Amino acid sequence: MRIWVPIDAAARALGADEVAEAVQREMGVAPTRNGSRGMIWLEPLMELEIEGVRHGFGPVAAVDVTAILADPRGHPLALGPVEDLPWMKRQTRLTFARVGVIDPLSLEDYKAHGGLEGLKTALAAPEKIVSEVTESGLRGRGGAGFPTGIKWATVARAAADRKYIVCNADEGDSGTFADRMVMEGDPFTLIEGMAIAGIAVGAVQGYVYIRSEYPDAIRAMRAAIDIARAAGVLGPSILGSAHAFDMEVRVGAGAYVCGEETSLLNSLEGKRGIVRAKPPIPALEGFLGRPTVVNNVLSLATVPWIMANGAAAYAAHGIGRSRGTMPLQIAGNVKHGGLFEVAFGLSLGEIVDEIGGGTASGRPVKAVQVGGPLGAYFPRALFDTPFGYEEFAGKEGLVGHAGIVIFDDTADMLSLARFAMEFCAIESCGKCTPCRIGSTRGVETIDRIAGGDLEAIPILSDLCNTMKWGSLCALGGFAPYPVMSALTHFPDDFTGRGVRVE
Ligand code: NAI
Ligand code: SF4
Repeated sequence: MRIWVPIDAAARALGADEVAEAVQREMGVAPTRNGSRGMIWLEPLMELEIEGVRHGFGPVAAVDVTAILADPRGHPLALGPVEDLPWMKRQTRLTFARVGVIDPLSLEDYKAHGGLEGLKTALAAPEKIVSEVTESGLRGRGGAGFPTGIKWATVARAAADRKYIVCNADEGDSGTFADRMVMEGDPFTLIEGMAIAGIAVGAVQGYVYIRSEYPDAIRAMRAAIDIARAAGVLGPSILGSAHAFDMEVRVGAGAYVCGEETSLLNSLEGKRGIVRAKPPIPALEGFLGRPTVVNNVLSLATVPWIMANGAAAYAAHGIGRSRGTMPLQIAGNVKHGGLFEVAFGLSLGEIVDEIGGGTASGRPVKAVQVGGPLGAYFPRALFDTPFGYEEFAGKEGLVGHAGIVIFDDTADMLSLARFAMEFCAIESCGKCTPCRIGSTRGVETIDRIAGGDLEAIPILSDLCNTMKWGSLCALGGFAPYPVMSALTHFPDDFTGRGVRVE
């Protein structure tokens, strides 16, 4: 009987290692350690093969293992076939097709589930890669949504002695974990995507810049790179071809701003993680001054699927200019939190109420922050907004890296606005004045409002406007989104604090 117990960090935090040990004690063999299926409320989710079908059990504790193995079908934690669970059935898993399914460090398992097919297609016609990625409509999944194919075309056209592929795995947005899940659950897909990017633009060296807070992902990526190199997937002759590509992991040191691409490049070069002025864009002058593709994990990990299945198949999903699928990360005060990959176009209300199942507390949803700590708070009145880049921008919000954090009606929006400003003050790299000084003044101004000084409200709006338009990068430039959305949509939390006593 085959058994799977996730090795994903979230599952481990919930006791998956103890469950795996219990299985080993009971069966005398270790279970396969897979990635997470993304249903975090069911972790640790143990899977058993029954008549060729993977059945789920969860959330499992080590003490449940003996009884589950004795009578799988009759056990109260039995969930039935995993693929038939409503959470799984409603998804369109393209980027996450293998996450939770395969053994992350088995290249054989990877290949048996379609792995390396995209790389083979790319090697057969390297000159077509950029146009294929462009036609797929894939946009930067780190948050900004810049067309990936156009970025690659810029690097491909640039004349230089060396070019680089840099994967931004400094996943710092609150409520996001998709990059981590890919690296822990299907690391070869990221390696394959980076190799394809290298072939497309003429780069032979890549770096994955992973935040130090992700030790499991760092371990998985390093191990997978070694395996890929030994198997000839990386190295001087990729899969026996005339193309070379190799890569290594570099570890960040805990600064949020190092997720900003130019700051990341400085850090990668061993310098202080401070933002560089753009232009020049990294596509022309990036790592060590050379043309560099800087892409998020999800963007690169989606490319193998596009190359294997064709641009049109990917572009067939989505709405407007938001093509393909997005791995949503549903978190916060929510009943069913986790990873849900779906085509763009679901409304925010469907995501929160139907997929997330409302709040874990059972109280009404008050606000949803989309796009990380710099994303806007959406009230229920905006829940009909379809999930798409332009659709969210039209409501003064951002899709970002698709982190969706839910709050119930006990949330105090002034405190959350203050948190956003304080976050910006703490994480500011200090290069430009609107962010460095503005965020600190912003915290003080919100404190004045909290003390009942309503005259400080227009000052806060003015300050946010200065930060939005005057900051050098998205940290200072986007911090006004959560602050202003909280003020605009939840004014009572700002004005209902009594009047100032002179
Ligand atoms: P941006 O709009 O300045 O640039 C987007 C990308 O397009 C960059 O890689 C840029 O170099 C590239 N680009 C622009 N013009 C180009 C051209 N003509 N040719 C080739 N490439 C070109 O946005 P930025 O500052 O890189 O990212 C901001 C976003 O980052 C925000 O929307 C936010 O959602 C997101 N973010 C994500 C975080 C995460 O943890 N994933 C954390 C913080 C912010
Ligand atoms: Fe640095 Fe903030 Fe200016 Fe960005 S906006 S360059 S983080 S000071």
